[in-house]
Amino acid sequence: MKKNTKLIHQKRIELLNENKSLISPIYQSVKFSFPSIEEGLKAEDTYGNQFEYSRVSNPTVRELELMLADLQDKEDSICVSSGMASIWLSMLGNLKSGDCVLYFLESYQPTRVMLKKFLRNFGIESIALSIRDFDSIKNTLSRKEVKMLIFESPTNPMLQIPDIEKLVFLAKENSVITIMDNTWAGLHNHGQFGIDYFIHSLTKYASGHGDVMGGAVISSSKNIKKIKPLAVNMGSILDPATAYLIMRGLKTYHLRVDRHETNAFKIANFLKNRSEVKKVFYPGLEDDDGYNLAKKQMKSYGGVVTFHLDCNKDKAWNFINSLKLFTTASSLGSPESLVIPAHLFFTKDFNKKEISLSGIQDSTIRLSLGLEDIDDLIFDLSEAFDRIFKL
Ligand SMILES: Cc1ncc(COP(=O)(O)O)c(C=O)c1O
Repeated sequence: MKKNTKLIHQKRIELLNENKSLISPIYQSVKFSFPSIEEGLKAEDTYGNQFEYSRVSNPTVRELELMLADLQDKEDSICVSSGMASIWLSMLGNLKSGDCVLYFLESYQPTRVMLKKFLRNFGIESIALSIRDFDSIKNTLSRKEVKMLIFESPTNPMLQIPDIEKLVFLAKENSVITIMDNTWAGLHNHGQFGIDYFIHSLTKYASGHGDVMGGAVISSSKNIKKIKPLAVNMGSILDPATAYLIMRGLKTYHLRVDRHETNAFKIANFLKNRSEVKKVFYPGLEDDDGYNLAKKQMKSYGGVVTFHLDCNKDKAWNFINSLKLFTTASSLGSPESLVIPAHLFFTKDFNKKEISLSGIQDSTIRLSLGLEDIDDLIFDLSEAFDRIFKL
């Protein structure tokens, strides 16, 4: 063979017998071969164990899918390229024109936009209610055109905690499919509930380093089988190199999640005792409205704290700009602590009544706690309070 052909058909080192790499290799390959056409045809019946083309399935991505299903106490999952893609997949895989979806005003803003703008183009209607309006939720779920309920807990950005058992009970009673965006609570939470589909943005706590994006739909084998053909056809697959980085991030998932939460709890308590702060929202605080439900439903309360400053918008923005360690950026679950003005980021699609129902004020600030030393975080906030409020 000529050398330039050898460069294309490169020699491989095949490991012998039980000689294995400790870390799984990244299968950075689009195509997988079989010794014969007949063997290749057989592979179509052995999904998950044999591979043909990476848009259909890839061993590295498959390792991640099975790991995520296990963490979330379900049977299977499909990984896609972002959290939003996972929400799209769960919607399109289960809805048709004429169906209606119930969602909450307190939901993640791009999810609201998907429902009230994009899905309407396909004849899929939606109804938005406040997560606290239980009577209307009950009535709406009993309407025959309502086929799906999507919700989060805690909600973004106001950390509201719905009664999941009640929601799931009502949905099941009316044969309504439940989708729970469990990104904020994490893969270790809420597995005990009979949720039909969990969706996660793997961009946050799962990958944990703020350097990759990913999403997952996690469910029973039967449900995953149902939506898999759409996922393959849609082509919103996760790249194997990204799947590898998420698997690597997951090795420290529990350590990181504990630290995010410890920092959040300490910061929530610190803020509660500041005269410049009107109200703190964190479900791990005993006097938080969601505490009793969160205590019953969750193993831990997450790394996000939201609070109202006792001032106008300009002063709140000055406070944010004055922070040095907290970076002004959206997202959560990265090693760096982040801060954003909630009104600016989350109310663009709301009218005045909806803003008021959402509880977001001009001075509402969302902190996503990172992994830094708590003393440094408290020092940074204290300095900003002094600089802005003691003028
Ligand atoms: C609750 C929630 N769901 C979904 C997403 C979307 O995730 P991604 O940015 O990976 O698409 C986010 C992102 O912040 C989120 O907070």
